[in-house]
Amino acid sequence: LDNGLVRTPPMGWMSWAMFWCETDCTHHPFSCISEQLYMDMADRLAEDGFTQAGYNRVHIDDCWMEYTRDNDGKLIADKKRFPSGILALSRYMHEKGVKLGIYEDYGTKTCGGYPGSYGYLEKDADTFAEWEVDYLKLDGCNVNLTEMPIGYPQMSDFLNKTGRPIVYSCSWPAYLIDQPDQVDYTTIGKYCNLWRNFDDIAPNWKSIQGIINYYDHNQDKLIPAAGPGRWHDPDMLVIGQTTVTPEQSRTQMSIWSIWSAPLIMSNDLRLIAPVYKEILLNRLVIAIDQDPLGIMGRLVANTTNVGVYVKPVTPVDTAQDRYSYAVVLFNRHTQNSATVSVKLSEIGLTNPTGYFVQDLWSGQKLGVMKPDDVYSANVPPTGVNMFKATLAQQRQKNAIEASRSL
Ligand code: DGJ
Repeated sequence: LDNGLVRTPPMGWMSWAMFWCETDCTHHPFSCISEQLYMDMADRLAEDGFTQAGYNRVHIDDCWMEYTRDNDGKLIADKKRFPSGILALSRYMHEKGVKLGIYEDYGTKTCGGYPGSYGYLEKDADTFAEWEVDYLKLDGCNVNLTEMPIGYPQMSDFLNKTGRPIVYSCSWPAYLIDQPDQVDYTTIGKYCNLWRNFDDIAPNWKSIQGIINYYDHNQDKLIPAAGPGRWHDPDMLVIGQTTVTPEQSRTQMSIWSIWSAPLIMSNDLRLIAPVYKEILLNRLVIAIDQDPLGIMGRLVANTTNVGVYVKPVTPVDTAQDRYSYAVVLFNRHTQNSATVSVKLSEIGLTNPTGYFVQDLWSGQKLGVMKPDDVYSANVPPTGVNMFKATLAQQRQKNAIEASRSL
């Protein structure tokens, strides 16, 4: 959607894959869906280095509402769990440089059974704008599938009409998973800034691997649809949850970045272990996700256990149509490590003057490699090796320009 928003994929934190629909604040005061939970996470983002790294959004998910609208048909936040209301929460976030995302559903009810926007699209768009919300995730439970192409664009127009910049995330294609011929990403990308296309993530390897498989199988349809302002959303990062290993966390972070996917964490930032925090804050990998070209990377080589992904990134030599690249070597085997060797030219890295190569997880600089050189790495089970190959020529030019300006 060309509304000037999310020209690079959004980054932040969302409650669902960690806190679900926990509404019992009596027994679970620390983990129930409440304004306190979202304020706590905004504090952690702002104070623990996350906003500086780009994670500048907190997203409310399902189960934030009262079960009925007010007499004017306006949505109401649960009065016990959100005693200050959403506008106060937005302002709390904004003071910290954090944006607030909210959740609704196009259907008659949300997936959790709360009032949906069906019949209230305009009213709800206006309410969210009045509450100074910055992002809307519009889910698709309890909708007649044939109405998806009507309601999702309508909400896009209503959000636009409010005059407030509101990022619009559509779950539209995720509900058409069994009717892939009904999914037209050109249309979806015209109305939505991002969209879910597959099953919900759960905090375990099977789920992460399932999402990767889906994207691999459908990449020819997915890749051309992505770009600045219109992103595929493979769902939240579950990095930091203890059921996902650090190795698997590096894999999720690397592959999501290769895809130019939103980096929206779902974890408990109050309790996160340092090893996971370090993975989430890896600036080199984040820079690949946030590369301004916004190209979705591709699986270019594949065997039973190993996949090689390549994403064109900046710096670019436009005159010669040459790119720099981020590369991920992924070992799908769950028990054995793999030694992976790739000749650069075989994965499309053909710049005759070569590339400066840097391992993005160790940070180690590996010198210049030419198209005929072979990159080799030992990759742990369910893990990755990731490197950036920066156009050598371009760097030299930059160095020359830099030295001239001295
Ligand atoms: C389905 C969505 O895909 C999830 O991300 C979450 O928002 C739940 N619904 C909430 O009910």
